[in-house]
Amino acid sequence: MQFQVKTGSASQQRTACAIVPVFSGGELPPAARSLDKAGGGLITRAIRNKDIKGEVGDQLLLTHTGELPCQRILLVGLGPKAKLDRRAWRKALRGALSTVARGKYDDAILHLTSEPVSGADAYRRARLAVETWHDVSYRFTAMKSEPGETAPALKRLGIAASARDQRGVRRGIEHGAAIAQAVALAKDLGNLPPNVCTPSYLVERARGIAKRARKVTVKALGLAEIRKLRMGAFLAVTQGSAEPPRFIVLQYRGGRASDRPVVLVGKGITFDTGGISIKPAGAMDEMKYDMCGAATVLGVLQAVAELGLPINVTGVVPTCENLPSGTATRPGDIVRTMSGQTVEILNTDAEGRLILCDAITYALRFKPAALIDIATLTGACLVALGRIRSGLLGNSDKLADDLLAAGQAADDRAWRLPLDEDYGELIKSPFADVANVGGRDAGTITAASFLSRFVGKTDWAHLDIAGTAWNVGSNKGGTGRPIPLLMEYLLHRT
Ligand code: BES
Ligand code: MN
Ligand code: ZN
Repeated sequence: MQFQVKTGSASQQRTACAIVPVFSGGELPPAARSLDKAGGGLITRAIRNKDIKGEVGDQLLLTHTGELPCQRILLVGLGPKAKLDRRAWRKALRGALSTVARGKYDDAILHLTSEPVSGADAYRRARLAVETWHDVSYRFTAMKSEPGETAPALKRLGIAASARDQRGVRRGIEHGAAIAQAVALAKDLGNLPPNVCTPSYLVERARGIAKRARKVTVKALGLAEIRKLRMGAFLAVTQGSAEPPRFIVLQYRGGRASDRPVVLVGKGITFDTGGISIKPAGAMDEMKYDMCGAATVLGVLQAVAELGLPINVTGVVPTCENLPSGTATRPGDIVRTMSGQTVEILNTDAEGRLILCDAITYALRFKPAALIDIATLTGACLVALGRIRSGLLGNSDKLADDLLAAGQAADDRAWRLPLDEDYGELIKSPFADVANVGGRDAGTITAASFLSRFVGKTDWAHLDIAGTAWNVGSNKGGTGRPIPLLMEYLLHRT
């Protein structure tokens, strides 16, 4: 897919489809005015005939465009001009691009991007347009023998902009494309079945990223090395499965050698049955998404390398399966973590924190400027925040504020939950240093409280993406979140 900046007047541009905004309440935006004038009043006529009202998301396709150089005009409502905010604009954008993705023509020009929107400058509008195009045109057909409904016909999308905004729009397109490719990678990894997307498959994909990017190196530890590091908690999770575990480390070096890296740790459980504390059968297939934290880390590393950001970023991915078997961990087992702390495993379904605690201990050797772990960690987070916001917890107000702001800016929002030391009381064990679960209360917080015991004084944040990493229902599949949030945060650091 090609994105091109288009300056100049709408009525002069040759295209198969001009995507043109209109307001409810009559007044025409410049692109609509220009086409209306050159086209003998075809837009004012459609509005006068009440074929389109201009409410947010309204659409009307005009196919009789006379002598105009555009073969079609897709009118898109933005609502009342005075109320045009980012939310309304995005809704209209998504609707319009979904329509275009179903079209049979190979180019279009998007004029929504040249309309001023409160809370989204020209850079942001271009970036969101590119990200949204990739989002609505995404198809997962890797496992179908017949792809069926084929990919969109569109090959080129013009992004209309004023000459003054050109530079920002170019940057928005560049950033949007890198982020969108990372999101597509994460969606693919999430959607692939657990018999394909195994720990060794994630290693292959990580190597693929390093192969295409000079500044990325990959290391993948196997069972023997994981044993040597004494990652007793990680080993306890993998021991019930025949599939070998891997511990993947990706390093992107775009900054000075002395710059401390941002370290991202991603939960990579390629299938979570719960282990001996087995989950109910209904919807258990969704636990193939339990590696979406890992997918996020791979996506971010790919995008950061693609954009050549002048920072250092390290990705750490512990990955294995959580299965029941004769060699599986029993509830009641006590293991020693790499940090030296002992853990009583009261519930083998609380496995994410077990692989993450050892990964966090390992990550500390990089002396992180910031340590961020990303995990589909608790069903409780889904109960608390639904599928709208990711859960955010941590020990640094500055880091938490930066991540919240990044999520807000990127439309990939998070919400902070508290992490008072008192919550630590809930995971006390009579037999070991700590238990891996508390009771039913505050499940997202007790999980984070468990992790907090391993981060020391490092600035650390934890993103619980159990609700946001995938969609259910007719739109079932990976979402690629929270890649936009993390990319915004990293772009902001440069
Ligand atoms: N991967 C799950 C969390 C999860 C559940 C994500 C549902 C998305 C939807 C995690 O490993 C898990 O099983 N957590 C348990 C923790 C409990 C045993 C304390 C949970 O949330 O039920
Ligand atoms: Mn689990
Ligand atoms: Zn899990």
